[in-house]
Amino acid sequence: MTTTRTPVLAARGLVKTFGRVVGLDGVDVDAYAGEVLAVIGDNGAGKSTLIKCLTGALIPDAGTIIADGAEVTFRRPQDARDAGIETVYQTLAVAPALDVASNLYLGREERRPGLLGSVFRMLDKQGMRRRAAEAVRDLGITTIQNIAQPVESLSGGQRQAVAVARAAAFGSRTVVLDEPTAALGVKESNQVLALIERLRENGLGVILVSHNMPHVWQVADRIHVQRLGRSAGVITPQSHTMAEGVAIMTGAAAA
Ligand SMILES: Nc1ncnc2c1ncn2[C@@H]1O[C@H](COP(=O)(O)OP(=O)(O)O)[C@@H](O)[C@H]1O
Ligand SMILES: [Mg+2]
Repeated sequence: MTTTRTPVLAARGLVKTFGRVVGLDGVDVDAYAGEVLAVIGDNGAGKSTLIKCLTGALIPDAGTIIADGAEVTFRRPQDARDAGIETVYQTLAVAPALDVASNLYLGREERRPGLLGSVFRMLDKQGMRRRAAEAVRDLGITTIQNIAQPVESLSGGQRQAVAVARAAAFGSRTVVLDEPTAALGVKESNQVLALIERLRENGLGVILVSHNMPHVWQVADRIHVQRLGRSAGVITPQSHTMAEGVAIMTGAAAA
């Protein structure tokens, strides 16, 4: 088959410098719906800078970002969110004192229908809880029993699951995860990896930054190797072994 697919999120020639430090030096990337694109690279290779440019947390000095085939300019993270791009950070970015449902709706609370919402600004708590429970169930997150539970009472893995559920809800097209399992144990990491696979099954584009090569080789469809601010190539778990991937990452081999 020779159909050309439009990437759900792409970039061409991204450049980002910090004073004299070059974070990104002309990077291209393509992420597709229903695929997991992993990004690997040594410390300082520019992985986080790439992710931040794609999600509106940093403004690139040069280059273009293309969402669903259309060029976009992100001046702040909300711009990226408006374009359907959600981010999950390594640090468990949830509000601990709030319950699961409130965390899912943080910053986009829904009001009651009619005058109660428009005039009295009353939140639709029941509706949000019901839809939060649906979102959690749809993702197969079975370990969270009670949507009204404060997030601080959850384990690290469950908190990260809430962060992923939040990113996957609300019509997002691409979910970007920067080291989502870094703070987690083995079992919890596996739960997050299963969630990532679920996002892919649901047709979302997933960009996963990870240092963990077994995780990457387990879930990635394609692997973008970032090295010294540049792309050193795009490989797949089928085309390259983990050792070969690491060799490209460190410059010991070419892709
Ligand atoms: N805010 C910043 N100020 C100065 N230098 C930065 C900043 N952010 C990143 N860098 C530099 O840019 C390069 C790429 O960093 P980063 O994208 O964080 O790499 P990675 O995530 O792959 O470890 C590094 O040399 C880093 O020190
Ligand atoms: Mg980083």
